[in-house]
Amino acid sequence: MNLLDKINKAKEYIRSIEDSSIDIGIILGTGLGSLAEEIENKKTIKYEDVPGFPISTVVGHAGELIIGDLMGKKVLALNGRFHYYEGYCMEDVTFPVRLMNALDIKNIIVSNAAGGMNPNFEPGDLMIITDHINLIGDNPLIGRNYEELGARFPDMSNAYCKEYVNLAKKCAGDLNIKVQQGIYIAISGPNYETPSELRMLRLLGGDAVGMSTIPEVIVANHMGMKVLGISCITDMALADNLEPLDHLKVVETANKAKIKFVTLVKETIKKI
Ligand code: HPA
Repeated sequence: MNLLDKINKAKEYIRSIEDSSIDIGIILGTGLGSLAEEIENKKTIKYEDVPGFPISTVVGHAGELIIGDLMGKKVLALNGRFHYYEGYCMEDVTFPVRLMNALDIKNIIVSNAAGGMNPNFEPGDLMIITDHINLIGDNPLIGRNYEELGARFPDMSNAYCKEYVNLAKKCAGDLNIKVQQGIYIAISGPNYETPSELRMLRLLGGDAVGMSTIPEVIVANHMGMKVLGISCITDMALADNLEPLDHLKVVETANKAKIKFVTLVKETIKKI
């Protein structure tokens, strides 16, 4: 089955459950799944029930698709994403975004847990993503291009919609939530970085480093969707002062920041 047929099948399945129009797609990163609890009148769909969907394997990722109402908008949230380091191909990693677009969703909010490389950041900070650098070593658009979905050589000059960056910053200000902004670099993982790698990534211009998000953002841009990206800084990824890190610590810090995250995302959704 080609990609278009696969997308269509998944879309038909979702449409058989929810046929109203959906305003915003949300991808919930590590430890940030509690936003899903705020969604009202919800319909929860297990990934394994959606034709074409891969199954999530990482601890802290639930693997559900939730459709419902949030702050006066109809949203579709993915609780748990597919990571390249799990062994999924790029087509699988980005399939949920293809599905969102097929459902006529024009706006997407992507979130992640990330290491802070900017020394002015603190663990627990939220960072509005202004741009990214793809160092995963792969790209979801390699291979056959479907013109129905987007251009062979898509523009990335406004990959993180400036209007939404400003909106999120304004909402954070109104709510008295401190936010950072900066450039997200993605590497494949799954290991965390060595000090020398972090020194390089910082030199390249990154403020935060993680293992996700960029494939989804590339595909969203390919299809002309507007993107807002938010990183939760879970640890300091500083070359000269690097402490041992494990996934549990990342989840723990993301959990501490989740109230801020949920509050900010809800307010931003209200104003989109
Ligand atoms: N590096 C890479 N990915 C991450 C990190 C990190 O320090 N923290 C959370 N995700």
